[in-house]
Parts: sequence; structure tokens; C-alpha cells
Amino acid sequence: IVGEASRTDLAPHPAKSFWRSKLDSGALWNIIQYMMDRQYNPILRPHLAENPSSVSYKTEMSKRTGDRCFPNYEINNTMPDYAKLPIQMKNVVTTMHCRDYLLIIDPLDVCDAQAKKGAPTLLMAIKTQTANFENREAIWETWGRSGNIKTLGGRQRLVRRVFLLGKSKDLHIEEKLHLESEKYGDVIQWDFVDTFFNLTLKDVLFWDWFSRRCPHARFIFKGDDDVFVRTPAVLDYLLAEETFVVGDVISNAAPIRSNGTKYYIPESFYKGLYPSYPGGGGVLYSGSLAHRLLVVSQRVHLFPIDDVYLGMCLQRLGVYPIDHPAFLTFDFPKDEPKEPCANHTILLVHKRSPAEMFQLLNETSTPNFLRPTGTPITMKMRKINFMLTLS
Ligand SMILES: *[C@@H]1O[C@H](CO)[C@@H](O)[C@H](O)[C@H]1NC(C)=O
Ligand SMILES: *[C@@H]1O[C@H](CO)[C@@H](O)[C@H](O)[C@H]1NC(C)=O
Ligand SMILES: *[C@@H]1O[C@H](CO)[C@@H](O)[C@H](O)[C@H]1NC(C)=O
Ligand SMILES: *[C@@H]1O[C@H](CO)[C@@H](O)[C@H](O)[C@H]1NC(C)=O
Ligand SMILES: *[C@@H]1O[C@H](CO)[C@@H](O)[C@H](O)[C@H]1NC(C)=O
Repeated sequence: IVGEASRTDLAPHPAKSFWRSKLDSGALWNIIQYMMDRQYNPILRPHLAENPSSVSYKTEMSKRTGDRCFPNYEINNTMPDYAKLPIQMKNVVTTMHCRDYLLIIDPLDVCDAQAKKGAPTLLMAIKTQTANFENREAIWETWGRSGNIKTLGGRQRLVRRVFLLGKSKDLHIEEKLHLESEKYGDVIQWDFVDTFFNLTLKDVLFWDWFSRRCPHARFIFKGDDDVFVRTPAVLDYLLAEETFVVGDVISNAAPIRSNGTKYYIPESFYKGLYPSYPGGGGVLYSGSLAHRLLVVSQRVHLFPIDDVYLGMCLQRLGVYPIDHPAFLTFDFPKDEPKEPCANHTILLVHKRSPAEMFQLLNETSTPNFLRPTGTPITMKMRKINFMLTLS
């Protein structure tokens, strides 16, 4: 029934294609991602966009064969300033095609992967490094407890916790980690060196682990091991909101261009602003989103800053992160006087030491959250055998 009359109601034709048809930058990541985006463009290739299964199948295959992934040194020819890059950036460039790292420690008892009923409401996935025993201990005993946790509203919700680790060079510390893992069953470790620019691998590999080992968890908290989270308040928030992804959203951030800083990204690698992303100190998202992130991440080249990478994946899913002012990934504002109850109004605060985690739990605990005996919370227990000698 498209008659003459309705024609004037139609929006004018766009003069040009509304996706970028030309690549106007000489940055490595932009170039290879441009090709990937074109390949999966839902308008140019609807069949690929709607049927991601072939993509995920491929990674399953390569995982099973356990193929080693070798650095690609030829890639240096595509970057005119390769020789001048700092070493960590060189490592990024030569290994960014590798992501199927072997699981060294795979805890099996965190969730019952089959059972939908009894799945955790919240799975906490905490990025940590092998040597940070104290942080893990404090988290284990304070905001990252596993089990039925009372929300502020008084409801019981099942919470599970895993720690996400790469490998360190120190064999003694690695051995201690294995003992810790045997004792607590909450360690996931993959076979890559645990550097700052490799943190993105933890997200990507965690989504894969999640899809196989804990696929029915309703929500995920992903955060650092130096934050404090008011878990009972987070649970209340989740139950009320059914949110997709929420955190401290950073918009219009530009790459840091000063060589020698931790976040340095040269123009020969990435050009343009970063998409909006929730700060990596701590972010909450739904389990269903994690499954979609796993699929879309296979179409987004690894980017060495983990929270920016999450933003890149969200952008391609068309999901907008929700900004929540109670996620203080940059701590309390320095110039504002602190309210007496400030610690009771947050969902997350960065950066906090293990001792401060205990103190904050003490301070923010409601009678609900105290143990049945009412005993104050003190540092203790998550101890492993420090007398270990290497054979
Ligand atoms: C680039 O890699 C090739 C092959 O590995 C090597 O021979 C060459 O010296 C490298 N060039 C730079 C600028 O690093
Ligand atoms: C960056 O710093 C490194 C030393 O950390 C230096 O070798 C390199 O030349 C610098 N690169 C540029 C592009 O300035
Ligand atoms: C990441 O880990 C891999 C595997 O251990 C390593 O080859 C690569 O150099 C690391 N990348 C960075 C940026 O450290
Ligand atoms: C809040 O917590 C911090 C430690 O994280 C502590 O220094 C401070 O005294 C606490 N209370 C208030 C009211 O700021
Ligand atoms: C927690 O508070 C109790 C008293 O309310 C105190 O005895 C205990 O030392 C505190 N624990 C920590 C780790 O601050």
C-alpha cells in the first residue's frame, strides 16, 4: 500500500552510506579492526552477523588442539615506528592475534554448570596477580565472600567468587598459588604472563570460562583486587534493576600519548577517541551480556587496555554502559569534604588496601551482615603453608 501520498512522509534518503566506507587512519588496530568490522557488517553481510556459531566453533577447535600461538614479527613492517616502541607495546603488536591460552587451573566446583536452579545471583570475578596473597585473603574474608549473602533488604542471595590470574616468573610464588587453589578452589589461571597490557586476555578468557563453567549466573561483578565493594548493597541494586552493564562510565577519553607512561598508546597503533567504557576498577553486568560479549569479542581485535576493550565490544553490541555515581573507581573527589556516612553510600571504591577492606567492612556492616555470633570481623585464616620448599 505504498501510494503517492505516503511518499512525502518518508525520511529523505541518506546522501552517503552511513557507515564509514573509507579508512582515514594509518593506525594498526584501526586498520585491522576496520576489515573485521566490514566482514561482520550486519548490512553488508547479514548472514554472518546473525550466525556467530562458526566463529565460536573455531576457538573451541583451536583450544582442543592446544596449538601454541607464535609471535608475529613480520607485523613490524606495517608500523613505521616499530623499532622505537616501548617493549610492552612491541609485545602487544606481535602477540595480539593470540588469545586461546591454556587453562592451567580450572576450578570445577564454583558453580554447577548444568543446574539453572541454584545458580549464583552474582559471580564475582576478580583480577589479581599471583603475589597478591594478602589482597585475596582480605577479599575472601570481606566483600568477596562465597555463599548465601544477606542483602541490605534482608534477602539471601547466592554469591560465588573467582580470582583471575596469568602466570608470574617466580616459581616459589606459583607453587604457593597452587596450594591456595587446592585449598580454596577459587583460582582460575591461564598460561600467559601477567602484565598490564595482557589484562584484556583475562576478560576474554573469563567470558569463555563463564560460558562453560557458570553459564547461569545472573550477574557478574568484574573488578580489581584493590577495591572495596559493598556487596549487600550491590545485591539489592541488582535485584531492583536487572541492568545490563553499569559502572563508572568514562566517555570521550583520548589515548595517552606520552611515551613512558603505563597507558601509553602510540598513534601508529590506535587513532581516535575511545568509545564510552566503564572504568575497570569494577563493573557489573548481566550473565546474558557475558555470553554476547564472548561472541562479539571474537570480532574485536585485542586492545591492550582492558576496560577500553570492554567499551569496544559493547559498542559493537549496541549496548550502552550505565553510569552510576556510587562506583568510585577514582576514589572520593579530593576537593569535596567527606560526608560522615560517605562509606555507606558507595557501591565500590578504589583504591583500598587489605587492611582498609577489613575496616570498611566493619564500618559498613549492618547487624544483618554480622556473623550469627556477632563477633567482629578480624583478619585471619586464608593461610597456606609458607614453609614450602621447592623440590
Ligand atoms: C622486522 O622483522 C623482521 C623479521 O623478523 C626483522 O628481520 C626486522 O629486523 C624487523 N624490523 C624492525 C624494524 O624491527
Ligand atoms: C619511547 O621510550 C623508549 C624508552 O622507554 C625509547 O627507547 C623510544 O625511543 C621512545 N619512543 C618514542 C616514539 O619516542
Ligand atoms: C602476553 O602474554 C603472552 C604469553 O605469555 C606473551 O607472549 C606476550 O608478550 C604478553 N604481552 C604483553 C603485552 O605482555
Ligand atoms: C571511610 O573509609 C576510609 C578508609 O577506606 C576511612 O579512612 C574513613 O575514615 C572512613 N569513614 C569516613 C567517615 O570517611
Ligand atoms: C571491627 O570493629 C571491632 C569493634 O567494633 C573491633 O574490635 C575490631 O578490631 C574491628 N576490626 C577491624 C579489622 O578493624
